[in-house]
Parts: sequence; C-alpha cells; structure tokens
Amino acid sequence: MKELKIGICGWGNVATGLYRSLNEHAQIISANSGTNISVEVIGARRDNPKCDSGSTKIVRDIFEVSKYDIDVVVELIGGVDTARELILEAIKNKKHVVTANKAVIYHHGDEIFSAARINGVKVLYEAAVCAGTPIVKLLKEELAANNISKISGMLNGTSNFILSNMEEGSEFMSTLELAQQEGYAEPDPTFDIEGMDAAHKIGILSSIAYGTSLPPEEFHVEGITKIEKSDFNHAKDMGYTIKHLAVARINEENIELRAHPALIDLNSHLANLKGVRNGIEINTDLVGKIHIAGSGAGQESTASGLISDLVHLVNTMGSDADSFDQIISNLPLKPFAELAFQYYFYIEAQDIPGVMASITSLLAAKGVGIESILQKEELGGNLVPIILITDIFKDKDSIELQGELLALDSVKKIRSIRIEAE
Ligand SMILES: NC(=O)c1ccc[n+]([C@@H]2O[C@H](COP(=O)([O-])OP(=O)(O)OC[C@H]3O[C@@H](n4cnc5c(N)ncnc54)[C@H](OP(=O)(O)O)[C@@H]3O)[C@@H](O)[C@H]2O)c1
Repeated sequence: MKELKIGICGWGNVATGLYRSLNEHAQIISANSGTNISVEVIGARRDNPKCDSGSTKIVRDIFEVSKYDIDVVVELIGGVDTARELILEAIKNKKHVVTANKAVIYHHGDEIFSAARINGVKVLYEAAVCAGTPIVKLLKEELAANNISKISGMLNGTSNFILSNMEEGSEFMSTLELAQQEGYAEPDPTFDIEGMDAAHKIGILSSIAYGTSLPPEEFHVEGITKIEKSDFNHAKDMGYTIKHLAVARINEENIELRAHPALIDLNSHLANLKGVRNGIEINTDLVGKIHIAGSGAGQESTASGLISDLVHLVNTMGSDADSFDQIISNLPLKPFAELAFQYYFYIEAQDIPGVMASITSLLAAKGVGIESILQKEELGGNLVPIILITDIFKDKDSIELQGELLALDSVKKIRSIRIEAE
C-alpha cells in the first residue's frame, strides 16, 4: 500500500468535506488507487463545530502547515492574495499543492506553475473547475492526443439553476431567492450571476487547451441579470432555449474567449442540462463531441475532485513536474467586437401601422439580414412585442443597431441575446 501524507489549509466547507470523504471513502480510495491518504495536519485559525478533527494535529497558523513532514499541501482557504502566498510558500518548501481555488489559479496560475516547475513539484487543481465533474485531467490526459476546437458549456451552477427555473415560468428574483434558500447561491450572488465564476473557469480551461495565459487577457463577460421570463417563451417558439455559456474556441488565426447568455438549439445536449448541474461540450478531432455533466459545487463533489488529484499525485510521484501549462499559445485573443453572431432581438413597439416596415428597413439599411420576424400579442398600452432573429453580423454593429432602433419613435424597449452557432 502506498502512503500519501497531506496537510489541509483552511477548515471550512470544502476542507471538512474533504476530511470526511477521506475517512468515509478510505476503503474505496485505497482499493482503486492502492493508496492510504493520511491527513497529518490541519491549518485552521479556529475550530469548526460542524466537523470533529479527532486526533489530527491542528495548527492555528496556516503557513506552518507546509513545514510539516507531508507530501502535499491542500489549499482550501479561498481568495487570492493569501492563497497565492500560501501556495508559493508550500512550493518553496518542496511540497506538492492541490487546490480547489479557481480565483488564485485564474489570477496567478502562470506564476504558480512556473514556481512549481523550478522547485520540481506539482500543482493540481481539478476541483477548481466544476468541482468533482472531471474536466481538467480529462483535457490534459484522456484527450491528450486530440486537437480541441471548442469548449463550451454552463460552468456556473447558480446561473443554470436560475435560468432552468425561468424556463419553467419563474421570475428571476424569486428564483434567485430560492437558490439562496437552497444553498445554491451565495448571500451576495454577484460573482455567479454576473458571469465572473464561469469566466474564471473558462479562462483556466482555455489555458489548458490552448495555452492562453493565466491571468488571461481581458475578455467579454456578461451575466444573466437582463434576461426576462418572457424571453424563454419567445426563444422556444423559434426552437431555442437560453443558457449562460462560457466558450473557448480556436482557429488557425486566433482564440475566442467569452462568457455570456446565449440562445442555443432546444434539442441540443446542453439545452437539456437543467438545474444546478454544470455541463460541458468538448469538440475534439479524434473522438468527436464529448459531453460531460455533473455537480459543479458542494462539499462532496469538490472532495471527489480533490481526491482525484491526490490519487494522481501518488500515481505520478517521482516523475517530472506535470506538463500542465506547457502548451504556450502564440495566437491572440480575437476582439469580441469582431466576433459575429446571429441575434435574438426583443423589441417592444407601438402597435401602429408601418412599425414593422420601419424596423425592417432600418435593418436593411445597416445590411443586417432577417431570418425571421414575429409580431406577438399586444401587451396593453398599445404596445406589441416583436421578435426578430437576425442573420449573422458583427458584435460591434449590434450595439449601434440597437441604439438606432431605440431612436425610432415607435420603439420603446429593446434587448438582445446572441445565438450560439452549433
Ligand atoms: N464550496 C464549494 O462548493 C466549492 C466548490 C469548488 C471549489 N471551491 C473552492 O474551495 C475553496 C474553499 O471554499 P469553502 O466553500 O470551503 O470556503 P469556506 O467555507 O469559507 O472556508 C474557507 C476556510 O479558509 C479559512 N481561511 C480563509 N482565509 C484565511 C486566512 N487568511 N487565514 C487562515 N484561514 C483562512 C476560513 O477560516 P474562517 O472560518 O476563520 O474564516 C475557512 O476555514 C475556495 O477557493 C472555493 O472557491 C468551493
């Protein structure tokens, strides 16, 4: 039986979940990996009444942990600055690092991996992207022979939960409140609903697949707060649903990185992944499209991802530091304004003769083709919703077009959602 001695920094939700899972699943972990993983020390600035640490050594200074006789420091304090220092300190003390912290990898990944290479240790972060749903090692190892042309998916469980409920007829605010009651959303949900959490994750996946830097160059990030319940009905009539998508895509000239709401085909695989789960589609050249889905948060799921990294460490102990960031991209990020999409437009206009003609002639003057246009039932106040699906045109022209539409006397409100091509 192999032995792996670990120290845990932080004693919150994920750390206690890891501790429990290591104990409760010790038998299956050792049966699958031939390894006994022992927690030698825990860095906790205070006790956690939700978890009894038994006879495990507790130190109050988290920076003491990497001085112990351990193989791995598991960083579970979250945040960026102290976590960065803690990880660099562990690396300096020649300890491998396992972390679930997407923020520190997103902001300081390149620096951390470089320090790890110099010190001959590994930094693994499977649980930082979609917790226990396997994606990091899947890209690095199982798909190692593949050219990956696109990674796309719903990488934020809170957003997917809210949008799935809105699809069933709920309002945004009541669903957000429900998500908070159920523990799917933080008391301050900004990071999730404004798209930053998904952006961190796709930034990390792009660094693995395409060698983009960590932190990446700035890219377009947009959340779900402007979507309305009625958009789902209109989208459905046109054969779509609405998801929050994070996308990384490569072609011969550049890389696309973005996170925003999108209409996707109602019959697509991603469209049918509802609720708090994360779902990812990977376009590969050898295996075709791969889909994975699973829980992207929570104590147990995150423990599963962390333990997979610990097992990986045991299996690769003695080999050179991981080649986790060896692909270095020379391709630039394509400016978002230069990307082209089909668009869904919701236009609220006065129900007067000629309104459709004024809208369609404005689009024609801008050279924007119309795939379909539907006038819906009157809303009251002599206002009608007009639902427009455009042909493909550049994002930079969309803002201008919306401004000009809104300047028409008859148009009172407008919103748009990009349509994701298959
Ligand atoms: N929760 C999830 O479902 C999930 C899923 C995937 C990844 N993650 C990641 O896992 C990490 C941990 O998340 P969590 O949910 O376990 O957070 P948490 O419950 O807030 O736990 C954080 C722990 O770290 C300690 N800590 C924070 N800053 C510290 C500092 N400067 N010095 C000493 N101790 C410090 C906290 O101590 P105090 O209690 O004293 O503040 C607490 O024990 C984060 O990076 C998160 O993004 C979480």
